[in-house]
This record gives sequence, structure tokens and C-alpha cells, in this order.
Amino acid sequence: MPPPEISRFPRDFLWGAATSAYQVEGSPLADGAGPSIWHRFVRLPGVIDNGDTGDVACDHYRRYPEDIRLMQALGLQAYRFSVSWSRVFPEGRGRLNPKGLDFYQRLVDALLAAGIEPFLTLYHWDLPAALDDLDGWVNRDSASWFADYAHTLFRVLDGKVKRWVTLNEPWVVADGGYLHGVLAPGHASLQETPLVSHNLLRAHGMAVQAFRADGQGEIGLVVNLEPKYAASDTPEDMAAMARAHAYMNQQYLDPVFFGTYPDELAEIFGDAWPSFPQEDMKLIQEPFDFLGVNYYTRSVNRADPLSPPVGATPVRQAGAEYTEISWEVFPQGLKETLLWIKRRYGDIPLYITENGAALADPAPVKGHLEDPRRLEYLRSHLRAAHEAIQDGVNLRGYFVWSLLDNFEWSCGYSKRFGLVHVNFATQKRTPKASAGFYSRVIQSSGAALWDVG
Ligand code: BGC
Repeated sequence: MPPPEISRFPRDFLWGAATSAYQVEGSPLADGAGPSIWHRFVRLPGVIDNGDTGDVACDHYRRYPEDIRLMQALGLQAYRFSVSWSRVFPEGRGRLNPKGLDFYQRLVDALLAAGIEPFLTLYHWDLPAALDDLDGWVNRDSASWFADYAHTLFRVLDGKVKRWVTLNEPWVVADGGYLHGVLAPGHASLQETPLVSHNLLRAHGMAVQAFRADGQGEIGLVVNLEPKYAASDTPEDMAAMARAHAYMNQQYLDPVFFGTYPDELAEIFGDAWPSFPQEDMKLIQEPFDFLGVNYYTRSVNRADPLSPPVGATPVRQAGAEYTEISWEVFPQGLKETLLWIKRRYGDIPLYITENGAALADPAPVKGHLEDPRRLEYLRSHLRAAHEAIQDGVNLRGYFVWSLLDNFEWSCGYSKRFGLVHVNFATQKRTPKASAGFYSRVIQSSGAALWDVG
């Protein structure tokens, strides 16, 4: 246990929890909203476990006042949520839907009235379906569609929202949505994937420019990062590890910080790797205020030519602990990741914008639910974050994924990440033991992480 004076997080450290629009809101077409690619995708046969959809989800669209009271009871200081683009612009551009915008104004006002900081993500994977009909992120115009949408939000919520995120996890958008097709819009195209990544980065750059013209506060990008290890020290496995690392960890950060893509991408995409205009790279490098890191796990890779295009396959580690979606619990990887960012990209302020675990929880009994493994997951990762701060990392805040059990994309409702249990038949919320623990951690500025028993 560290001495008491250092077993604390910085005084102004921001403690929160996160959700995203499609995963919690429900009522996807209410009040004049247009369909998103997720609304469309979940209706394809066989793509989501159990045929689940986000039609109801956690009914957060209607129950947000109750959810804000829950956040207050837990002592959360910030709530990271995302805006559904097609509620605000049903066709993605052009005609504004005032009722859709009004929902987010009411949400933000209610958060502020409860003393909770709104931490707003503009894009968490739910592109308006009408824009997908125009080729979505493959279309170069997508960057200006996004910047126009962002600009509307900046104007309307200016001064109320102090921290903005452009995109959540561009890697997942491109890899899951356009390369492997397991997420919306369900394309499987090697050719499209680098174009999508590039347009996402241009969209981020253009939105940051629009923000500078109009907005106050801070704006950042959220990426998912995973330290990559080699399964052995053979040259093949080491090269596979380097490709996996470039593909997931450097593909988006090298461009925004250095204005270049890592060399490995040309090798990975082969003939599908385009050459990009230099002025795009300048746009992509537009300086921003903070980086959000979503951290869940690591991966250990071996070379595998049968696993294109990266040529790497993750190897399961004997004796390691895994969560319900087969992610290894590896807290030291969080510290390692934060230190790697500092070494490679410098001292930009960092937030851990997602961290958490999908685990099989028992049903609540008389308003209680014990989830000791999630509690330990949070404890070990927060200790790792604290160590990173001790080592000089400029870490400003931490968000648990997720506030609520919710629609876990292709897994539907079968995987639960919440601090708060949701009974999807009755919509009853029950805070889990991990929520109580997190509350005590917040209240004690972290000291509760070292309490025994
Ligand atoms: C996403 C969340 C998702 C979580 C767990 C992240 O990739 O941002 O939307 O629910 O991981 O899979």
C-alpha cells in the first residue's frame, strides 16, 4: 500500500462513467429521428446474437432523469454519452430536426442541474442511414457532412458542454464496419477500409477546425488501444506483432500527431493502399486538446498468413483470466499504454474514456448484486492508472464502461458491462457492488483502492 499522501488521484481528476446513444437510448425513430446504420443493420438476419435490437435498449431516451439521479447517487462527476446524428439531422445533412436536438439540450441541462459534467461524443458508430446510401465514410464528402453536423452541436451547446469528442474508436468503425463486416454497415471490403479510416481522420480534423472557429472548451479524439505482444521471438511472430501494433495503435495516432501513416499499413493493405494528398495530412494534423483512451485488454500475436490482411492471430494465454468476451484481464497493459503515448506522442492531456469488463453477473437479490470480478477489474486498472500518474503521465480523468448494462453491439444484450444492472424486461436498475466500490473510490479520491476487505 502506498503512503497516504500519494495514494490519491489529483484533486481535479474527473471521475465518470460512459454510454453511447444506440446502446442505451432506445426509441430510435422517436420525434422525427431518421434511421441510423445500426437501426438498419440489426434487422439483417443472423447478425446480432438472439436477434436483439436497440429498439428499446435501456430506454434512456425516456428514463434519462432517473439515470441522472442514479449517477448523482453514485457521486459521478461526469457522464460521457454520445449524440445520435440522425436524431438531429434525420437525413444526415440539410434538414434539422429540432425535437431531436431538444433531447440533447434537455439531457445536458439536466446533467448540469445535477452537478454532473456532460462529456459529449459526436460520433459513436451510428451514421445516419441516408448517408450510408451515399457510400457513408467511403465518400470523401463525409468529412464535411460530419463537420457541419458538429458545428450545429457546437453552436447550440456552446458554453454548456466543456469537453467534446469527435469520434469514438475510428479503428473499430473501419475494421468492424468496413473490413470484416461484423458491425454496421456490414461491408467487407479491403479497398474501402483505408479510405474509411482516412475520411474519418479528415472528419476529425474538419470538426476540430469548426470548433476553433466557434466553440469554447476542449475537443479531443478517442481511440481504442491494446498493447501487442509477440507469441515468440521468431522474426515471423515479431513482425506479426509489429503489424498488429501499427494497424490498431498507430494507424490513427501517427497521422494526427505526425501527419504520416505507419509504413506497415502499405504492407498490410497491399494494392488497396492509396496515396493520400499532402493537404489531407495537414488537415488531419489539426492540433486538438486531449486524447481519450479506451482500454480493455492486450493481445499476444503469432504470425498467421491465413488471417489477412494483418497476418496475425491472437493466442490465448494459459492461466490468464478472461472476461465473457474473451478479453484477457491485463491491468499492467493500461499503464504501459499510457506511458507509450507519453513517450511517442508527448504530453497531451489524457482521459481513460472507457475501461470495464463484460462478466456474467448473478441476478439481483433484494436490490443487491455481487460482482466481485468486476470490482477487482476496476481496482486493478485504477491502480495501474495511478501508477502511470506517479510516473508522470498527464492523466486527467477516468470513465467506467459502462454506466448501465446495455446493447453490446453484435452480442446484443447477452454481455453485461454495467456498474448498474438493467433488467431488460422491466427496465429496473440495480446498482451492482462494483458501483458502490467505485463510489467510495470517487469519494476518497482513490484512497479506497488500497482499502483491504
Ligand atoms: C466501444 C463500446 C463497447 C465496448 C465494449 C468499445 O469498443 O466504444 O461501445 O460497448 O467497447 O465492447
